[in-house]
Amino acid sequence: MSKVERNIVLIGFMGAGKTTVGKELSRILGLRFVDLDQAIEEEANQTIQTIFKTEGESGFRKRERSLFHKLSKQSDIIFSLGGGAFLQEEIQAACLTDSLVIFLDIDFSIWSERIPLLQKDRPLLQQKSLEEMKELYTSRKQSYSKAHLIIQTGRLTPPQTAEKIAKTIH
Ligand code: S3P
Repeated sequence: MSKVERNIVLIGFMGAGKTTVGKELSRILGLRFVDLDQAIEEEANQTIQTIFKTEGESGFRKRERSLFHKLSKQSDIIFSLGGGAFLQEEIQAACLTDSLVIFLDIDFSIWSERIPLLQKDRPLLQQKSLEEMKELYTSRKQSYSKAHLIIQTGRLTPPQTAEKIAKTIH
């Protein structure tokens, strides 16, 4: 991270490995790690599933915006954002201005192998067909591609991906 960058922000589609890679990267770089979804759950004392049920997606997005706004005032943090967070203009603009934004790019075919593991706690995945998920993936990729750095995860393990990032940014 250079002096002008406050934090590192990992973005990408749900299940791309942002949380696991973020934890690994925080160990390598000696920086604090914050998973925004987990922070939302802790603040609300509810799971994301329940927040989606009781407040709808818009309620969840509002929580995402306000908590990210609050937490990103601090420095030297590695954030992992939920797959839809970077699509929010406010979050996107803030990240691109003062953080190093890294897109973990996973192929759709590799991603789809993970569906059985992801399904239980991803409300959007429960609501959509595979075809709709592919559309979402394609449309979101345009936004994710605004990141400062794009890392192809391929079939790398999370520790290997974290090493790749660390080597690239140092
Ligand atoms: C979402 C992704 C999830 C979580 C929520 C919505 C999305 O996070 O924020 O279920 O809109 O893609 P992960 O990207 O960690 O799965």
